[in-house]
Amino acid sequence: DEAVETPVVSTGQLPDPERVTAIVNEAYERYRGNDDGKVADYIPALAKSPRHQFGICVAGVNGGVYEVGDTKQLFSIQSISKPFVFALVCQALGGGEARRKIGVNSTGLPFNSVMAIELNEDRTMNPMVNAGAIATTSLAPGANADEKWRFVRDGLSRFAGRQLDVDEEVYQSEAATNQRNQGIARLLYGYGRMYSDPEEATDIYTRQCALNINARDLAIMGATLADGGVNPVTGERVVDADRCKRALAVLATAGLYEQSGDWLYEVGLPGKSGVSGGLVTISPGKGGCGTFAPPLDEAGNSVRGQLATRYLSDRLGLNLF
Ligand code: DON
Repeated sequence: DEAVETPVVSTGQLPDPERVTAIVNEAYERYRGNDDGKVADYIPALAKSPRHQFGICVAGVNGGVYEVGDTKQLFSIQSISKPFVFALVCQALGGGEARRKIGVNSTGLPFNSVMAIELNEDRTMNPMVNAGAIATTSLAPGANADEKWRFVRDGLSRFAGRQLDVDEEVYQSEAATNQRNQGIARLLYGYGRMYSDPEEATDIYTRQCALNINARDLAIMGATLADGGVNPVTGERVVDADRCKRALAVLATAGLYEQSGDWLYEVGLPGKSGVSGGLVTISPGKGGCGTFAPPLDEAGNSVRGQLATRYLSDRLGLNLF
């Protein structure tokens, strides 16, 4: 409720570079001392995350990149992979087929909820929670697991504008402890809502979550969605504009899980969090914002990341509404 006193009303573009630089620095200074939240440890390797690190990066659709703090620190992308893989699968299948097979309504329940599957006749409801995300990965085109994995990794790398690599320790750690995701995938398979072998899909999903990125990568990935699917730094078209629109719509419904309504109310932008402490936010037509700060709130969203992003949305005039 302590929203910025003088929010700027949204206009067609980001403010000039000096002003963006100043506001990004202000956001950093304002929240760097915040020590609230808890570092995720349900994936054992994540417990070692650097609690005090904090990085903020804004990337504009014109290719400008503004960063402060620990923006080079690598961390596993985790759930932030979900909207980008959805955009890639949407590109392959078309938006209509993707909606029929995965669903686009919010569950209102935690990201790893089994009850959400049982409560809803369609079973998968949204690609931003684990059930829908594993179903999305199961739709990756390819004749075998290797080809499907390459589709996912190469697609995410094109969003980032550089080749992304798996953090093997995080992958092994999650693969050894993700019985719950395996159960979700098998349950969906039983309901006819998993579109490849459930073990294979869970494994590819687990690898996808273990790809290393940094806050700068996140900002550029977000800016690519903001830019109608063209990476503003490399100039490469990653997906069509129509697919971006679909990915942004599902992000708005469930990017911050059961707190998505509060997020939209305060920040007014589609965003996606991950349990390793990353957060990406997209301001369509303007740019993307990436933050990194490991401590999380109860729903699994980065505390400092949310504060800094809300500040940026207010001060840079990004709020869609
Ligand atoms: O499937 C999982 O549980 C993790 N690989 C990703 C979860 C996640 O990032 C949820 N985020 N807030």
